[in-house]
Amino acid sequence: MNNLIVLIGYMGSGKSSVAKTLSSKLKTNHIDLDKFIEYSEGISISNIFKKKGEINFRKTERKYLENILKSKKYSIISLGGGTPCYFNNMEVINKHSNNTVFLRTSINELTERLFIEKTNRPIISHIESKKNLNDFIAKHLFERNKFYNKARIIIDTDKKIIDQIILEILNKLT
Ligand code: S3P
Repeated sequence: MNNLIVLIGYMGSGKSSVAKTLSSKLKTNHIDLDKFIEYSEGISISNIFKKKGEINFRKTERKYLENILKSKKYSIISLGGGTPCYFNNMEVINKHSNNTVFLRTSINELTERLFIEKTNRPIISHIESKKNLNDFIAKHLFERNKFYNKARIIIDTDKKIIDQIILEILNKLT
């Protein structure tokens, strides 16, 4: 048993804000994998995609995921939307944490949230219309849900304020 909390879920599901609020509530530290990669590599995620390509990003992401997990320095980790879906990352994550939390958000809610902030998200920045974004998310989630569903705790986030989400997570932690 350990008490590391790992937050996973699609882009826009609220992983980073939940990690931040949860860490202040639990008076513990947290780290965001994307921010850690950007800081350590000295380059934005968008530019890694642009200059080195997605495969390079996924290898870099895997390397920092392992570093963070092995360091045992952090109590809460928020991952990138794709992190659980490459290599055997989800197995590795579940090996280090009993408290993997999937923030599950509906396709329509994600579409609304992501349409207004897609510019810095290389996976969706090229999608022009809301309808196409909705179709893309539906297909992408269909592929990714099998990884996300390996989380021990699943929290539906639609129409919930952050305090409600935090409360539900706290009630389910081991
Ligand atoms: C990605 C999600 C992003 C970031 C990268 C790829 C994905 O993280 O890691 O742009 O494949 O879903 P957020 O979920 O924090 O936006």
